[in-house]
Amino acid sequence: MNISYTEKNKGKFIVIEGIDGCGKGTQISLLYNKLIKSGIPVKQTAEPTNTTVGGIIRDALSGRLELTIPELAALFMADRVTHNINSFDGIKMTLEDGFNIICDRYYYSSFAYQGLDCDMQWVMDINLKCPDIMKPDLCIFLDLPADISKKRMKNANRNLELYEKDVKKSEQIRNNFYKVFEILKNTQNIKIIDANRPCNVISNEIYNCVIDIINS
Ligand code: TMP
Repeated sequence: MNISYTEKNKGKFIVIEGIDGCGKGTQISLLYNKLIKSGIPVKQTAEPTNTTVGGIIRDALSGRLELTIPELAALFMADRVTHNINSFDGIKMTLEDGFNIICDRYYYSSFAYQGLDCDMQWVMDINLKCPDIMKPDLCIFLDLPADISKKRMKNANRNLELYEKDVKKSEQIRNNFYKVFEILKNTQNIKIIDANRPCNVISNEIYNCVIDIINS
């Protein structure tokens, strides 16, 4: 196949997902540091973003602002469009500049979280059919049972957000992730990793998956 210079040097878009308390933050930092140490160009990003829309979303998650679930789903989608196309640090531009991206949450979270309390198909449609929302090269799902993630969050010294309070809801969200991955299995590259193991074992597995994608 004839690969153009630009295509060959474009970065890979990697998303890390999981229910609250699964250890995503720790694993993303470890992955980022390992990639940097290996001399691989990489940038870290997250959703919700730090934009104005991201701020409204945070207000809704903390309970300062009351929104319906479809309003919240639409805001996450709008935030994602800005995240993709903004000319300051947008995903598209960053990939074209040759950086790989590690993104903490993406549309899979909208499908699993907002899809729990409103029409999941509609949430999928508004994201997957939007031309300004890119498809990731790889989604890694850090899988942890809800009761274990809840115990980890109890140790966090802060007020819990909308989706962090209820262990039953977390288990439903985890099940929803599985539902979403089943629907997407033929069109998206999704890797489920058991997050109930020692930190370094998980980290090595994530790193190997990511390196495979970067070298592909
Ligand atoms: P974080 O705690 O990983 O920063 O994520 C913030 C919360 O936002 C978390 O409870 C999951 C939720 N969320 C959604 O409900 N829908 C989405 O599309 C995204 C990106 C996050």
